[in-house]
Amino acid sequence: MNRLVVVSNRVPLPSAGNHAGGLAVALDGLMEKRGGLWFGWSGAIGTGGNNVSVEQADGIDYATIDLTQDEHDRYYNNFSNGVLWPLLHTMPELMHFDRRDAKAYRDVNARMAATLQSLLRPTDLVWIHDFHLMPLAACLRARGVTNPIGFFLHVPFASADVLAAAPEMGSLVRDLLAADLIGFQTENDLANFAAAAELFGDAMRGPGNLLTMAGRKVRLGVFPVEIEPHGFADLADKMAAGPEASRLRASLTGQHLIFGVERLDPTKGLLQRLAGLRLLLEKHPQWHRRATLLQIAAVSRKEVSSYRALRTALDRDAGCLNADLAEPDWLPLRLVSRAVDRTLVAGYMRVARVGLVTPLRDGMNLVAKEFVAAQNPADPGVLVLSRFAGAAQQLDGALRINPHDADAMADAMDRALAMPLAERRERWQSMWAAISDRSPLAWGRGFVAALLRASSIVAVPDRPLRTGTGPLALMEPDEAGLVTDLMVAERTGEREKLRGPKLVPEGVQLN
Ligand code: F6P
Repeated sequence: MNRLVVVSNRVPLPSAGNHAGGLAVALDGLMEKRGGLWFGWSGAIGTGGNNVSVEQADGIDYATIDLTQDEHDRYYNNFSNGVLWPLLHTMPELMHFDRRDAKAYRDVNARMAATLQSLLRPTDLVWIHDFHLMPLAACLRARGVTNPIGFFLHVPFASADVLAAAPEMGSLVRDLLAADLIGFQTENDLANFAAAAELFGDAMRGPGNLLTMAGRKVRLGVFPVEIEPHGFADLADKMAAGPEASRLRASLTGQHLIFGVERLDPTKGLLQRLAGLRLLLEKHPQWHRRATLLQIAAVSRKEVSSYRALRTALDRDAGCLNADLAEPDWLPLRLVSRAVDRTLVAGYMRVARVGLVTPLRDGMNLVAKEFVAAQNPADPGVLVLSRFAGAAQQLDGALRINPHDADAMADAMDRALAMPLAERRERWQSMWAAISDRSPLAWGRGFVAALLRASSIVAVPDRPLRTGTGPLALMEPDEAGLVTDLMVAERTGEREKLRGPKLVPEGVQLN
């Protein structure tokens, strides 16, 4: 089995208890099952240089480098979070472009490529994650790395005319084309990327989501990230009976709980959500004293100015909303700005009658899927979901709204709060059906299988090969569920036959 090398900005180091957010939720299962190398930033600020720290746990090698303070400021805060994040989420007005930041972003990617190259084995599969590392595949290729390389974007991909606001964007799109497979959360993201590749990269889009340019081929694919629905359902069931959820329930004194949880981020539509709540209470005063919103908005990326500005605005709007609408014995809004443990969140979700997931734009939004998994099937809550979250493509039982339309949000909340049990069950069942037979592990295996197909070393039957007697009588598939040409060749001793230009990239050693 080829070793899997995952590369991401944040690495969930066991020793540091590092969080890697949605990305770690998506990848943990595959790495636990398959083992491999996980490479990226240590989470620490250091003096630079090429020192790599390595730790091992449960069959996974974690290799990390520190960033200097300047690299962290420019690569992570200013360019990744201050340019790419808003642009990819179609919020160009929040972008602050500076050439020096773009250069630092490239330099960090080049440094990561140099370090990673020294750790790579010839038959490794390299899987790069997210917007922090858009030039990395090209940096590796420039250093002569010929391993199969996949790239997955966890966030949306905006349309080319929005992206063009950043002078760097054309070359970043071209850099991405150095990968063999590029994965997206939705068809819309894929279509936007294909158009950008045609515009900036002289690529031609062929059938089967194949891009061709100057003799090279790049495969595109849609791989919606999933949660572990049964595990999360069990967790929510257990936590809903625990002391924290019980205290929350008791504090409601019979009111319905409306619940929202996210990082405090401009893409999440928090101000718009408060505007929706205000309208709900103005247009539908019957909910006074009968419903309250618990909004967890965990402060994040506070070194980026737009995040600090949002914190100020949110505190102001929340204060005004409560001051304007509260009664001496009732508050419409409870705002919590620190991070709350995911296990507690699972219990709170099960207590809630309404889940609000209303981002202005979101790659997938796993909170939406977690809210569905957390519900009691006999008495489920209702999900109010932005049509601009990737999850809206899958969760058609949600009340899907446009978060810019406060009236639509208010009316959806009203409908959700009043919804009869039969309709709540019907909607929940359709959403549960959409997520319940999926998992992060299947998602990861699907990507790896597609990477093997897209890279030129393999042709892939999807079942064990049964060809009568002899060495190929029964071959066990690898972790991706595949029997590859490489495995067959190793079994038959015919590895040399795979060295043709179509099957093995130059430089890949088959022993
Ligand atoms: O959505 C992309 C993502 O990288 C998630 O994986 C993660 O939850 C989030 O952004 C947090 O980002 P940061 O690493 O900046 O805290």
